[in-house]
Amino acid sequence: MDQIRIRGGRPLTGTVRIGGAKNAALPLMAACLLTDETLTLSNLPHLVDITTMANLLAGHGAEIRMQGEAGDGGHTGRTLSLHAGKITDTTAPYDLVRRMRASVLVLGPLVARTGHARVSLPGGCAIGTRPVDLHLKGLQQLGAEIELAEGYIEARAKGRLRGGHVLFPTVSVGATENLLMAAALAEGETVLANAAREPEIADLARCLIAMGAEIAGVGTDTLTVRGVERLHGARHEVVPDRIEAGTFAMAAAITRGDLELLGARAGLMESVVDKLCEAGVEISPTERGLRVACPGGVRGVDVMTEPFPGFPTDLQAQMTALMSVASGAAMITETIFENRFMHIPELARMGANVTVHNASSLVRGVGGLKGAPVMATDLRASASLVLAGLAAEGETVVSRVYHIDRGYERIEEKLAGCGADIERVTA
Ligand code: EPZ
Repeated sequence: MDQIRIRGGRPLTGTVRIGGAKNAALPLMAACLLTDETLTLSNLPHLVDITTMANLLAGHGAEIRMQGEAGDGGHTGRTLSLHAGKITDTTAPYDLVRRMRASVLVLGPLVARTGHARVSLPGGCAIGTRPVDLHLKGLQQLGAEIELAEGYIEARAKGRLRGGHVLFPTVSVGATENLLMAAALAEGETVLANAAREPEIADLARCLIAMGAEIAGVGTDTLTVRGVERLHGARHEVVPDRIEAGTFAMAAAITRGDLELLGARAGLMESVVDKLCEAGVEISPTERGLRVACPGGVRGVDVMTEPFPGFPTDLQAQMTALMSVASGAAMITETIFENRFMHIPELARMGANVTVHNASSLVRGVGGLKGAPVMATDLRASASLVLAGLAAEGETVVSRVYHIDRGYERIEEKLAGCGADIERVTA
């Protein structure tokens, strides 16, 4: 099993290219099931989750071809054409869904296009219980009949789904995406109220519009979809990954470096930029992205995770690592997931001083961290351990790095490219 070995203490300098967003790419790929024509997606990151989604879609009958490799169109990303001419199988099997919860995003497109979907229920997860009840209730409101049996969700519709009014009681990224895709092919108008506003949802909406969908309110919490009988093929470029950008910004800050994030957009991550600036990080736009510098180190700032445009839960662990070396204390409150503090005992092994109480962690900044062997528990937790390792004195070895490969493309190569002493080793 691979490990990442880091010898900390080197400031990150130079440039790093930010890839396409994993959490935009996954629903965009699922959208190929809505049409019998070809959907071409560019700037796709090269990640394990993207391969899992491609395998899942291939199982439903989609033909997937790679069109471009690194460097295409000025990006490092790949271009894939996805062609689901015929849906040959409407089952998303347990074996793939258990590996990646975002597999549930095929539910809406499959039932909308074919009137049937059988999708394994995603099981537990390291960061919280993560139910899918909002996806199911929303689809029922569009006329689907839902049954749960033998660990599977079975969704059926007689003819087309029909438009409806869906008010989400809690903001859910995945449920908004599933319903948006389903509503695009439903008969009549659907209103999705209290919808998630993450940039990845706006990206999906833009792609659906390019495929012929009629969607109003993009970027707001109320999406109005006038269903159409069929969608057609389109080309779409995946939005840059604001979580990867935020992670590299924090990597620059924790090492007191000076890094240019190529392709990063401040408009996708204003709450993050604001918090980092409040902590003393210097962030300025450049022609090619964002420059992040932190010559004087950071001071403690309080952070609360919230749905977009609030501070993203997917950067909470990394922010905790950064705050662990701040001057002063920081209160970090997690409001999205109930169990997203698994990185804290590992950070403590490196000398961080963090106390967790309910949904908040109190991080008292320490003068410096010390390298240690640590274990990744989920994707963003692993990123926080890598950040801590970059700042720590001595050697840190992060194990179970398969978590990090799900969401960061060649993270050790990118970090080594801007001066970190980091390598992947096989244990
Ligand atoms: C998406 O997950 C992201 N994944 C997550 O990224 C991200 O952490 C999360 O949104 C929040 O921003 C993808 O986009 C593929 P939610 P999702 O539905 O859609 C509760 C990463 O590290 N909820 O917005 O699954 C849920 O339990 C990851 O890249 C219900 O109660 O998140 C949670 O507490 C991990 N019922 C809250 O809502 C439901 O039916 C928000 O979850 C659905 C969700």
